[in-house]
Amino acid sequence: MRLESLSTLNYRNLAPCTLRFGAGVTGVFGENGAGKTNLLEAIYLALTGQTDVGRLEQLVQSGESEAYVRADLESGGSLSVQEVGLGRGRRQLKVDGVRVRAGDLPRGSAVWIRPEDSELVFGSPTLRRAYLDSLLSRLSARYGQQLGRYERTVSQRNAALKGGEAWAMAVWDDALVKLGTEIITFRRRALTRLGELATDANAALGSRKTLELKLLETTTPETYAADLTGRRAEELARGSTVSGPHRDDLVLTLGGFSASEYASRGEGRTVALALRRAELELLAERFGEQPVLLIDDFSAELDPGRRAFLLELAAGVPQAIVTGTERPPGAAAQYWAQSGRFTPLDPLDGPLDMKPEKKAELEEVH
Ligand SMILES: Nc1ncnc2c1ncn2[C@@H]1O[C@H](COP(=O)(O)OP(=O)(O)O)[C@@H](O)[C@H]1O
Ligand SMILES: [Mg+2]
Repeated sequence: MRLESLSTLNYRNLAPCTLRFGAGVTGVFGENGAGKTNLLEAIYLALTGQTDVGRLEQLVQSGESEAYVRADLESGGSLSVQEVGLGRGRRQLKVDGVRVRAGDLPRGSAVWIRPEDSELVFGSPTLRRAYLDSLLSRLSARYGQQLGRYERTVSQRNAALKGGEAWAMAVWDDALVKLGTEIITFRRRALTRLGELATDANAALGSRKTLELKLLETTTPETYAADLTGRRAEELARGSTVSGPHRDDLVLTLGGFSASEYASRGEGRTVALALRRAELELLAERFGEQPVLLIDDFSAELDPGRRAFLLELAAGVPQAIVTGTERPPGAAAQYWAQSGRFTPLDPLDGPLDMKPEKKAELEEVH
C-alpha cells in the first residue's frame, strides 16, 4: 500500500491542501501546535476510516460544519481513491466514488505509532482490549462483525438486567455464549503469533527482560454458560454483565511481572513500541503487503536506542511518514509544518535555523 497524496478541507487546523508522498521516508517537522499530529490523524482516517476521538465534531475546523479528507492510493499496481466526509456526528466513507462502510475499507493499510502508546502499558485494560480488538478486526472481518454483535448483545442484556427481566436471560445467555466463545477462541489463536512477534521486537529493542502476552480471561468457552447462571443474582443486583470477553484483559508481563504495575516508564515505552512493531509485522504477514507506517513525534523519544529503532523501522518499510520538532534523519522528502500549512523542502537543505533568509522566504509564502 502506498499513499500517493492526501487532500484535506476544514480538517482541524490544517489549511486546505493536497500533499504528495513518495516512496521511502517523508519527514514532517515543525514547532509544537503546527499541525503535524493532525496531519497523521487525517492520513490514518483516510486510510482506515478509523479515529479514536470521542466526538467527530472535534475533527471539524472550529467555525465550520463539515470536513473532508481524501487519500489517493496505490496497491498492487492499481490506484484507488478513499474519501471521508465528516459532519455533525456523521462519517461518510467512499471508495472510488461509491459509498462503503468502514469494514469495507482495506484492513492492512496503516500503522500509527505515537508517544501516547505508553498508555497501552500503563493505562486501563480498556485500552489494551481496544488495541487487541482493533488489530484482530483488521486481521479478520468476521472477528469485527462478531465483536460488534457481541457488544450490542451485552448492552441489550444489561438493559434487561437493569429492568429485572430475569425471565429473558436464557435467550440473552445463549446469544452471549455463542458470540463470546467465538471471540475468545479467535483471541487465543491470534495471540500466539502476536505474542511471538512482540517478544522478538522487545528483545530487538535491547530489553533483557522477556515480554510475554497473555489473556486474563473472566470466563472460558467451556464454562461461560455456567458462569452466567452462577452469577445471575449478582448480575441482576448490579445491572451489568460481569463475565465475558468485554471484561478480559491483555496482560503484558516483563520478566514474569505485570508491566502495567512494575515496569519503569522507559521499559513501558519499549513494550509499547514492541506492540506496534508486532502489529506492523502481523498485518504485513496477513495481507502480503506492508502498511504505510506513520510515526508521530520521533523527537519526543529521547532514549537513543528507541529513537534509532523508530528510525530503522521507518527506513525498513516501503513508505513511512515521520513527524518531529526536528528533522528526521534519512528522509527522502521533507515538509516544513507551520500553522497548519506544509511546505516541501529540499531534503538536502541545512537546518532552517541556520538559514535565516530561507526561513524568511518561507514565512512570506505562508
Ligand atoms: N477542530 C479544530 N479546529 C481548529 N484547530 C484545531 C482543531 N483541533 C485542533 N486544533 C488545533 O491544532 C493544533 C494542534 O495541532 P497538532 O497537530 O496537535 O500539532 P503538532 O504539530 O504539535 O502535532 C492546536 O493549536 C489546536 O488548537
Ligand atoms: Mg503532535
